[in-house]
Amino acid sequence: SVQPVVMAGGSGTRLWPLSRAGYPKQFLVLTGNQSLFQEATQRLATLGASDIALKAPLIVGNEEHRFLVLDQLRETKQDPAAVLLEPSGRNTAPALTLAALQALEGGEDPVLVVTPADQTVTDPASFTAALQQAVRVATTGAIVILGITPDSPETGYGYIRSTPELGAARVAQFVEKPDLETAKRYLAEGCYSWNSGIFVLRASVWLKALELFRPDIAAATRTAFAARKVDDKFVRPGKAEFALVPSESVDYAVMERCPGSEIDIRVVPLSAGWNDLGAWDAVWQVAGKDDSGNAAIGDVILRDSSNVLVHASSRLVSVVGLEDVVVVETADAVMVTDRSRSQEVKKIVNALDASG
Ligand code: GDD
Ligand code: MG
Repeated sequence: SVQPVVMAGGSGTRLWPLSRAGYPKQFLVLTGNQSLFQEATQRLATLGASDIALKAPLIVGNEEHRFLVLDQLRETKQDPAAVLLEPSGRNTAPALTLAALQALEGGEDPVLVVTPADQTVTDPASFTAALQQAVRVATTGAIVILGITPDSPETGYGYIRSTPELGAARVAQFVEKPDLETAKRYLAEGCYSWNSGIFVLRASVWLKALELFRPDIAAATRTAFAARKVDDKFVRPGKAEFALVPSESVDYAVMERCPGSEIDIRVVPLSAGWNDLGAWDAVWQVAGKDDSGNAAIGDVILRDSSNVLVHASSRLVSVVGLEDVVVVETADAVMVTDRSRSQEVKKIVNALDASG
């Protein structure tokens, strides 16, 4: 069987001031009329096929967001198998471990389809087809990563070099978040794909790989899961125990270390209009725009401007004679930046965190 897992516990700081600690980006409605989390969960609901028995999704999120998770699932009529609530964020490796342990509770070893909650996809049919292929490959015991053809030297992604092989290409190298120089070189070499952050693998395969590379994370997370409290759909790992789990991402803890090891790791291409909406510039890329390339969300007046993104939440915002800027207004904060520098919003949030 196939077990969808949605990782929804991140903080999404680069979309400040709309994205906040109490209301991070995956729960925002940025494009269309559903939040990124709702879209991610629903995308997986189409995975079933004659040879694929699909289970209700497992959500892994933060205790602080439990009502957001529940309300948003209810709104789209999604019934989760369980919602695993982390008392504090320990990054994605412990989150996936909780999901794997929960999935094994049913006495089966399902194929987990693990997805971030903060991405958009414009071609759902291609998305489903790629994932169904990945499920078939993962059934044989491989870790399968969905890979994206890169079009810029993004430094916020994992880079995968692969060698062709029957079934699916084998991952020969995985480099998480390379520096700009390295990313440019990979792009020029042409044989790399980006890690979409979507992984397909059996629950037992994840635990085996983690035990091989990071037995400390595996042991600490097992201890926290063993101390869990169950309250209807909510599953809460032991708070004191979870605080002792080392914080690390799936990519650094396991994926980078798989090539050349005993773990079979493959990549299946995903060509479905994937975008990870990492920063405001990416939101502008996918947003509906007028003839001058302007995207206006909310109560906005634009004159003589081009290629701007204006997001108004609580007041009228007007922009005259500007190009390539992003303006985001909320009740208590306004952010204006050159579109090409929208990655740097993270620095403001870091400075605010440090001062507050
Ligand atoms: N439950 C839980 N707990 N979820 C988390 C946590 C956590 O502590 N931290 C992050 N997440 C969720 C985020 O909400 C997001 O949906 C997903 O896990 C990925 O985390 P990000 O923090 O957004 O990772 P990233 O964007 O820096 O990098 C990952 O995704 C890229 C593609 O978007 C990596 O996998 C990269 O290699 C990849 O290219
Ligand atoms: Mg991300």
